[in-house]
Amino acid sequence: MQFTKKIVAVVAGVAMCAGLTACGSSRTGQSGDGDKIEKGATIGISMPTKSEERWNKDGNNLKANLEKQGYKVILSFADDKPAQQNADIENMVNNDAKIVVVASKDGTAVGPAVEKARDAGAKVIAYDRLIMNTDAVDYYATFQLEQTGVLEATWLIDKLGLEDGATGPFNIELFAGSPDDNNSKYFFKGAWDLLQPYFEKGILVNPSNHGGGVKASDKAEDIWQKIGVQSWKAEQAQKDMESILDSTYAHGEKLDAVLSPYDGITQGVANAIESKRPDMKPGTDSWPYITGQDAMEISIANIANGKQGETVFKDVNKLANAVEELIIEIAEGKEVSGINGKFNNGNLDVPSKLLDPQGITIDNLSDLVKANYVTQSRFNELTKGTLLEDQIK
Ligand code: BGC
Repeated sequence: MQFTKKIVAVVAGVAMCAGLTACGSSRTGQSGDGDKIEKGATIGISMPTKSEERWNKDGNNLKANLEKQGYKVILSFADDKPAQQNADIENMVNNDAKIVVVASKDGTAVGPAVEKARDAGAKVIAYDRLIMNTDAVDYYATFQLEQTGVLEATWLIDKLGLEDGATGPFNIELFAGSPDDNNSKYFFKGAWDLLQPYFEKGILVNPSNHGGGVKASDKAEDIWQKIGVQSWKAEQAQKDMESILDSTYAHGEKLDAVLSPYDGITQGVANAIESKRPDMKPGTDSWPYITGQDAMEISIANIANGKQGETVFKDVNKLANAVEELIIEIAEGKEVSGINGKFNNGNLDVPSKLLDPQGITIDNLSDLVKANYVTQSRFNELTKGTLLEDQIK
């Protein structure tokens, strides 16, 4: 079966290359070879999983946009399995996809599949997560990656009063995202660069041995994977947090803050605290300041009920629009606009479109309604009327 697919892909590749003036991809921000992609052509969208809220929104938004433009869309979700994602992409190639958009489960493991797509003449767009160690990536569209960590750390610094001279020492526990996701490194670096000076002064301390223990002298690139949560799983974060609490906070010790890079991880952390330290109450001084990312529905509820203080909102509607624009320009053989950065994937600098994330707290939670990210009625359900009327509007 695999073998048959390979042959089909190779034959498709040869057939397409024969019909085109140039195969392969430009790396310059030009869509390049002037070859047009017909309306009605197939575009593949490969998402990592259905089990996280955002990828459903991302995939469906982009699919709807592209279908409105007249393209056929194959949308697949890989169940967080690299082999499944590679099979999904091969299937897109076998269905003659002219462009594949990939939010990878594992940025390195997906390389061979996108190489097949490229060899078959398709353009490859890395969506949100960079595809690593291959030449077969034409463009990358994401949010300013380090900025996510900057927003999280800035909020923690503010809440702990560190810029106002608070000396602590404050106990903080640190989590990073999945070790197989290139984004995690940047999120953590953005945060660590701001927190590290307070570790150096002894104002922030990490008393647990989580990930081997984080010290002031550590560099972000050396620690992010050690404190990473595989596949961003809430259950794993909960287990990790439970063992942190058992080992280090079992006798009433104060936990001041938790750097969490994702709302699902935050939920795992909150579950662990509630089960191991029932004396710590959300919304009171006994509860730590906890960050997050994605403005998931659960985080809207958690921010309203005090379990979480901050999240980072990445407007996936805007990301879908940015990628749609990119696809149309590629399809029309135009120069690609809006490239405002590049990311090195180990093989090449990938021209990138970088959008701005926004920090969200109780003070601006209703911005999520204004951005049409969540409806007013759903927002009301999630916040259970705990917010003041003027905060909701
Ligand atoms: C995305 C985040 C998301 C995380 C978990 C990252 O690659 O950039 O927005 O929270 O994956 O799905």
